[in-house]
Amino acid sequence: MNKRNFIKAGLLGFGALILPGKVFSLEYYPNPSSRKWAILYSTWCGTARDAGIWISEGMDGIANVFDVREDPDLSKYDHIVIGGAIRSGKTSPLLQDYLQKNSETLKSRIRGYFAVCGNMMQPVGPEQTQAFIDNHLAAICGVTDVPSKVFLGRITFGLMEPEIRKQFEQMPNMKEYDNLKRPECMAFGKEILDKNLK
Ligand SMILES: Cc1cc2nc3c(=O)[nH]c(=O)nc-3n(C[C@H](O)[C@H](O)[C@H](O)COP(=O)(O)O)c2cc1C
Repeated sequence: MNKRNFIKAGLLGFGALILPGKVFSLEYYPNPSSRKWAILYSTWCGTARDAGIWISEGMDGIANVFDVREDPDLSKYDHIVIGGAIRSGKTSPLLQDYLQKNSETLKSRIRGYFAVCGNMMQPVGPEQTQAFIDNHLAAICGVTDVPSKVFLGRITFGLMEPEIRKQFEQMPNMKEYDNLKRPECMAFGKEILDKNLK
């Protein structure tokens, strides 16, 4: 390595150490639009992230998509869709805390809710909407009467925390599955966007 490359490599290495962690997070790059849309999700194993991205794709990709772990400032967005994966009947404590902490910012901007659940691989119905949306997300946010959707999700052993993975792999009849459907997520995104065009 010559002297110039050595110095460059050193500076790059140093830069990597001092750059904030956010630089390394997975970022979604929305299509340009004058309308300011955001989708906020919480996930453990990535299904709700994919649902969020596909909902945005149903909006022609104009909604920016945020993981709640980024603790995003959503005050510059006019329209927000909120959703999350379900464990033990609820979304993650982090999402619940975020919604409570930011309720004033979110209140006038919430345009839809979604949840992603396993539902023991059975079709979802009004019972799941009531449990995961009406009595949970909408109740925390204090905003009702916006479109909502509960999607079936997936199980991927390799993405689970080790203890949870062990429990799931030992459950009789438990197997990996993938029931999340991109067209359903996109249709939901389009439905919300159309509703807010007027
Ligand atoms: C520990 C654990 C608990 C779960 N609890 C529920 C539940 O209470 N109700 C349900 O319908 N699905 C439940 N599921 C299924 C998840 O909702 C489903 O796998 C979902 O796709 C996970 O989304 P994620 O990949 O975004 O984390 C659970 C899954 C795990 C791993």
